Amino acid sequence: MSTRNILVTSALPYANGPLHLGHLVEAIQTDIWVRFQKMRGNQCIYVCADDAHGTAIMLKAEQLGITPEQQIANVQAEHLADYQGFNIGFDNFHSTHSEENQHYSNLIYERLKANGHIASRNITQAFDPEKNLFLADRYIKGTCPRCKAEDQYGDNCEKCGATYSPTELINPKSAISGATPIAKESEHFFFKLPEFEAFLKEWTRAGHLQDEVANKLAEWLDSGLQEWDISRDAPYFGFEIPGEPNKFFYVWLDAPVGYMASFKNLCDRRGDLNFDDFWSKESSAELYHFIGKDIVNFHALFWPSMLTSAGYRTPTAVCVHGFVTVNGQKMSKSRGTFINASSYLQHLDADYLRYYFASKLTNRVDDIDLNFADFLQKVNSDLVGKLVNLASRTAKFVQKAGGVLATEIDNPELWQPFVDAADSIAQGYEQREYAKVMREIMALADAANEYLTAKAPWSLAKEPGKEREVLAICTQGINMFRVLMTYLKPVVPALTERAEAFLGHELSWADELTFKGGVSLNEFKPLLTRVEQKQIDALLETNQAAVAAAQPAATAETSAAEMEPIAETINFDDFAKVDLRIALIVKAEHVKGADKLLQLTLDAGEGKTRTVFSGIKSAYQPEELEGKLTVLVANLAPRKMKFGLSEGMVLAAGPGGSELYLLEPHTGAQPGQRVM
Ligand code: MSP
Ligand code: ZN
Repeated sequence: MSTRNILVTSALPYANGPLHLGHLVEAIQTDIWVRFQKMRGNQCIYVCADDAHGTAIMLKAEQLGITPEQQIANVQAEHLADYQGFNIGFDNFHSTHSEENQHYSNLIYERLKANGHIASRNITQAFDPEKNLFLADRYIKGTCPRCKAEDQYGDNCEKCGATYSPTELINPKSAISGATPIAKESEHFFFKLPEFEAFLKEWTRAGHLQDEVANKLAEWLDSGLQEWDISRDAPYFGFEIPGEPNKFFYVWLDAPVGYMASFKNLCDRRGDLNFDDFWSKESSAELYHFIGKDIVNFHALFWPSMLTSAGYRTPTAVCVHGFVTVNGQKMSKSRGTFINASSYLQHLDADYLRYYFASKLTNRVDDIDLNFADFLQKVNSDLVGKLVNLASRTAKFVQKAGGVLATEIDNPELWQPFVDAADSIAQGYEQREYAKVMREIMALADAANEYLTAKAPWSLAKEPGKEREVLAICTQGINMFRVLMTYLKPVVPALTERAEAFLGHELSWADELTFKGGVSLNEFKPLLTRVEQKQIDALLETNQAAVAAAQPAATAETSAAEMEPIAETINFDDFAKVDLRIALIVKAEHVKGADKLLQLTLDAGEGKTRTVFSGIKSAYQPEELEGKLTVLVANLAPRKMKFGLSEGMVLAAGPGGSELYLLEPHTGAQPGQRVM
């Protein structure tokens, strides 16, 4: 097997706030993959950086009374400490506010411009006359034109969900100064994305993306691409555009270039890596970007187009994950479930979360739910109860026998499947099917524990003359532990280190697949303790306090992840406006070309059926729905969709993905009955 040259990135976290569980799921997903590649003997380089530019960071620094440079340095130190606490093994962590990044951003821009891919024209935007600042939509607040809720952001209403342009807001105010915005014109620069339509239609279908991501992008590609505004007016914390005084690159122009910059910084420090080997058009190296689902367009439309125009290679794959939810809901500051990395580390072992996320991660874009009851159960039952237990049940008997393993294997038939699993486990890691890998490992751990329980060396040890037998059983136990620990090494690095200290050598993939007899073991110390509910309670408490003490964070540049609508109370009349009906699912079918939707034919007692398109395909097979009753929002205005008219909506609960549960009434309810 020839070694591969692989460059891997996680998205660059914004330097305006602490890392939270959402950042961690990404870092953990990436780090597991990187550790796996390294273990397999590939050259795999993992780089990241802080995303240091933009209005949010500038305002945050101002709010704290420090310079943006101080702000990003403080945050970078915090980020690094958190990542280290979770054992994220970056080869380099840099900043987008760096020389290397300015160099490559300018270079790429110049090339785009030379290729005729940059346009310029005047646009009119809201302007804060007090701060002398152009206002992005999210920095304008006012009264919702539809439901009249006050204090709504400039582009959508959190109360009624309306979307609009900031000019439609009633009584608009700058969220920064409170001044009434005025309209002002200025020159902006645009990247001519539409010129890349043909390229993108091909590239997005050429195996670089998950199917569901490609399908989503196809919707955008089909509805026509827009030119992308890549400039911002001063004052802005970022890079000034070459030859355009007081115009700055929009943070998202130089952010992905930060991947190159971080790698270049590493090349300059290491000497054995060559920038062009990884980034030139002729490069045979592989390039992977791990990102969340909210930033797909930047990585799968803009970035490959920029790279192509500028004469660089494009990514081998963009690997997209879903969002972390906590106990089935969006992370929320008010519920105390917006969990910071540092709060977690104060109370719990990083490997717990690494294992837990691994046990939930697939190569799909489904959201990832952290359910604390499930977390406690899984960590205790799998990691402690199944895996570590293999060593703790056997180590002391080996010790008693002199600390050296027996030379012969006790049960070769039981051992063989542990070796045979290697390929399938490796393939699972390679394809980012970690949940499947964890299941395979734990199934083997079950088999190993059954063997030990049946042989009960702890009972035999009490009988005279059974020493050899006891040692043989425990030798088999330790060998099974060793190979499973090897398979799990990318996931739980700190636990692995303790296991390696006990086993007396570093665990490496190929070497561990043979039975090892006659070797001596080191002293056994407890490898991992059980999670206790009180640690989780303490985490939630610390976190709530930390979040309450934190200054209101400036809004991030793109992600609305941390905002959640505050439920407004409604009176009975409001509720009564919603006509909920029991409906019988007469027919359920796949919809050609739709990756989320099922087409339902419903009988709601109206003498004719209705068609409803419902986004539940990830959770149900059509056949299992037919004949079931559910709840229909009968007076929802019909909606014209790409696939036809949807006449209402059915109700389901859950975070999404495979965890979606259609509501069903108790037995006896009849189609057409009103739900009150
Ligand atoms: N700075 C940009 C990325 C630039 S990459 C050239 C950004 N930063 S972020 O801090 O908002 O997000 C960093 C990564 O964390 C993104 O991939 C984002 O999808 C991910 N997550 C942020 N919140 C998340 C969850 N709640 N759940 C899972 N991932 C989420 O975007
Ligand atoms: Zn509204």
